[in-house]
Amino acid sequence: RDIKLVEVRSELAAGTRGASMGIDALKVASLDKKSDFFTRFDPINVKDANNYLWRENQHPFANYIDGVYEVLQNVFQTIKSLRSQQKFPIILAGDHSTAAGTILGIKAAHPNKRLGVIWIDAHADLHSPYTTPSGNMHGMPLAICLGMDNLEQKQNDPLPGTVAYWKKIKNIGGMAPAIRPEDIVFIGVRDTEQPEDYLIERYQIPSISVETLRKQGVSKTAAMALEALKDCEQVYISFDVDSLDDSLSKGTGTPVPNGLTVEEAMRLNKALIKDKRVCAWEIVEVNPTLDTENAMAENAFAVLETTTHSLITHF
Ligand code: ARG
Ligand code: MN
Ligand code: MN
Ligand code: MN
Repeated sequence: RDIKLVEVRSELAAGTRGASMGIDALKVASLDKKSDFFTRFDPINVKDANNYLWRENQHPFANYIDGVYEVLQNVFQTIKSLRSQQKFPIILAGDHSTAAGTILGIKAAHPNKRLGVIWIDAHADLHSPYTTPSGNMHGMPLAICLGMDNLEQKQNDPLPGTVAYWKKIKNIGGMAPAIRPEDIVFIGVRDTEQPEDYLIERYQIPSISVETLRKQGVSKTAAMALEALKDCEQVYISFDVDSLDDSLSKGTGTPVPNGLTVEEAMRLNKALIKDKRVCAWEIVEVNPTLDTENAMAENAFAVLETTTHSLITHF
């Protein structure tokens, strides 16, 4: 595999400031471990739009969607181009909204290949501006890729200008929707809102809980997830660090109890990435400003290094 490291210092779509420093925190963690990981890659930097943070948010129910749109377009272009050259992108990003740019880019490079998504996260990130409880767009990337507004569960009335941006965002690449709901598998999701539960139920999106993973074991869980995507020709894995237990993830914006251990996350990603259909892997949401002694980044770096190592040695 021809790996390309991609760095996106995205931060606009999180509710708490600081996720843009997550990548640097991962680098500090690697230095503290005396790892040569970051010497082995020549990363691409995707332009962020964090300058928007010094302006007033114009878009209630989709905070900074104007800036998020810019970032997602940049991520989209980068990933589309890398996938067209058959590179394997490993994406280090700040907030999780970038995953939408990644998915749309993968799809645009190979429009005829059905794309499956393994979403390892405490959250389902299925909100739209019509249903979001927070207005934070890191809770929306999967709805963007599914092209779903979920108006059946409408809670909010976004402004016309916000709706216009939402339409543009869903249409990045011009081939919406990029994925089908039956081609998503959730692992570790344990903090959802009712509009998300509605979609999971309605489309029967498989969701493997931490409890189930622990009961049946990591290898069986990985096999189940890949089996659920048996009709997909390419697979993207998104790893939100808040899938880890909150005792290990103080340094993320939205920590949630009862999550994975670092060991479980390492073994899970290691197993999943051995499937030859996997074509991109992303890690997001490290926020060192919320942390003590960089513990979150150290845990996340262990997952990043192990997963990358598994990818390199298996192929
Ligand atoms: N569901 C909540 C919201 O929409 C939390 C989303 C958290 N997402 C994340 N990528 N950390 O506000
Ligand atoms: Mn999350
Ligand atoms: Mn299926
Ligand atoms: Mn997430």
